[in-house]
Amino acid sequence: MKEKFYVTTPIYYPNDVPHIGHAYTTIAADIIARWNKLQGKEVFFLTGTDDHGKKIANAAKKAGKTPKQFTDDLIPEFKSAWKKLNIDYDKFIRTTDTDHQKVVQKVLQKCFDKGDIYKGEYEGLYCTECEAYYTEKDLEDGCCPIHKKPIENLKEETYFFKLSNYQDKLLKFYEENPNFISPKHRKQEIINRVKEGLRDLSISRTSFDWGVPLPFDKSHVAYVWFDALFNYYSATQKKDKKKFWPTDLHIIGKDIFWFHTVYWPAFLMSAGIKLPKQVFAHGWWTFNKEKISKSRGKVIGIDELIKIAGVDSARYFLFREASFGEDGDFSRKSLIDRHNNELADKLGNLVSRVSGLIEKSGCEESKKWKLPRITSEGEGYVNKYIKNLELHKALNAIFIYIDATNKWIQEKKPWGIKNESEKKAVLYNLKREILKLSKLLSPFIPDTAEKIQKIFKTNKIKKAPILFQKIETQKPNKHLNQTISKESEARENLGFLGKQIPNKTMENVSTIQFEDFTKLDLRVAQIENAENIEGADKLYKLSLDVGELGKRTICAGIKEFYKADDLKGKKIIIIANLAPRKLRGIESQGMLLAASSKEGSPESCPSRAKKTLSLISPDQDIASGSTVG
Ligand code: ME8
Ligand code: MG
Repeated sequence: MKEKFYVTTPIYYPNDVPHIGHAYTTIAADIIARWNKLQGKEVFFLTGTDDHGKKIANAAKKAGKTPKQFTDDLIPEFKSAWKKLNIDYDKFIRTTDTDHQKVVQKVLQKCFDKGDIYKGEYEGLYCTECEAYYTEKDLEDGCCPIHKKPIENLKEETYFFKLSNYQDKLLKFYEENPNFISPKHRKQEIINRVKEGLRDLSISRTSFDWGVPLPFDKSHVAYVWFDALFNYYSATQKKDKKKFWPTDLHIIGKDIFWFHTVYWPAFLMSAGIKLPKQVFAHGWWTFNKEKISKSRGKVIGIDELIKIAGVDSARYFLFREASFGEDGDFSRKSLIDRHNNELADKLGNLVSRVSGLIEKSGCEESKKWKLPRITSEGEGYVNKYIKNLELHKALNAIFIYIDATNKWIQEKKPWGIKNESEKKAVLYNLKREILKLSKLLSPFIPDTAEKIQKIFKTNKIKKAPILFQKIETQKPNKHLNQTISKESEARENLGFLGKQIPNKTMENVSTIQFEDFTKLDLRVAQIENAENIEGADKLYKLSLDVGELGKRTICAGIKEFYKADDLKGKKIIIIANLAPRKLRGIESQGMLLAASSKEGSPESCPSRAKKTLSLISPDQDIASGSTVG
């Protein structure tokens, strides 16, 4: 019987289309699944979506759809993204699947019967974006530490899960299973937090109904994380899948580590179910050092990612550029550089050169010539790295063998070998090296690996077509000063493909880097109210609706120019991420944009110059909260 291997991704919130962050985890799981298959294991690879909860209910409402319709409409986006990225998953689960919901109810009942669930009242903080409870000390400036958005105060009847009962059991479990929390450097933080003490967890809600009803009280729906985590288990509850439980590896991002290393094992212990073997949290992809995230308005979509240099180059880049487990800063330029310098110049050239030589001279195994085995020596390292989830090291090692093979060709010069049998033997050796390399590469770049195998696993080998077409990067224009070429590079990173037209006057102004500009979070906001501030004759206190960023108060010195009533309902542009400032005792949370000019002749008579001021407004009606840039 084959050894089994069960690997999962998080089930993503289908509140929007997937982006590069979701792709990262899913490709990682795909790499691990493919590699385990190569090791002869029977693999089960699960992904899916987390359909329930307030976050989805809110997004559906905003879109004017029922939550079911809304999620039904988004699921194809996930499935097609995974198809485009060549993800070979075995099952796509949704928490709205009937089978799953039944399992959730069953385990809830089990925990309830055990006495681990009791009724009470929850009063405290909640971030709907995270679907997570917070305490005051977790907050940063009163906002959620992950989404940097204002936090909600909840007060409702709820059922609690006795998480406090599991503190010691969890600590003992971590001790006995040292690989459960990985990578190692993230482990201690979790252990320390658990040691600080665990508070009972609110696991049901009554203020909305988009979730799994509690079997013992139908007026409550299960907390979305209780529901979601059990997807990993419910997916294995069909007869032919039971053998896959427990999970060998849950791959997740570091944002949801706590849920997976604390809540999840505690729920399972309570329900009397075997615990997973390992949870591995990778880092975040950032863009200019900010987390790529839909709710923060910074995203790189799947099509956008693939368009840069193709699917395999994207897959390769993500696991070569950043150490798996650490954060990585995304740059279009680095992706293209790696595509050109590594995939095209090193791997592509090797394949094309050797296939071309074999087309001309043929190849044949011969024991007569002692030839080096390059890649086979390193195979063990590559496998060890992948087993330890050091995916970047595995790719690095593979490229060391590619370099060594290229170097060997350079030294051996097979085209100049006079002896036919030696020449053929050398080419045979190279073919074998390439096939070995392609096997090692196949979990990472499956499409290219398959192409390489097709090229060489035939009796009539022909010169290979180009595997990686090089991509022209914009050459820095000599007429431009350094600032501008850096700026256009940054633009290129952002995906603005248009060439930057040099502007001579730029030399005379003090420039900022393009990255500096991207730090501004400019948003459309609607003025809901404008009030006077006592003792301030120039200021209004404006109450604003900034869509997904919520409500804001801004103090603005525009009273001389606008009547309060004329401002109401107006849409303006604000800088939404300016550090708040107290003005006349009121916290001003941002700044609005306005154009101003001085009329008259200020030179001759400055005191008579009349200032005019005009608020900057979007040209057409556009939703509050829309980004500007
Ligand atoms: O948290 N860099 O779903 P989610 C790297 N439904 N990975 C990223 C990323 C980034 N910038 N952004 C997202 C949820 N991810 C829950 C999970 S599981 C029982 C329930 C990846 O849609 C990463 O894997 O917010 C992260 O953990 C996950 O997407 C969060 O996806
Ligand atoms: Mg999230």
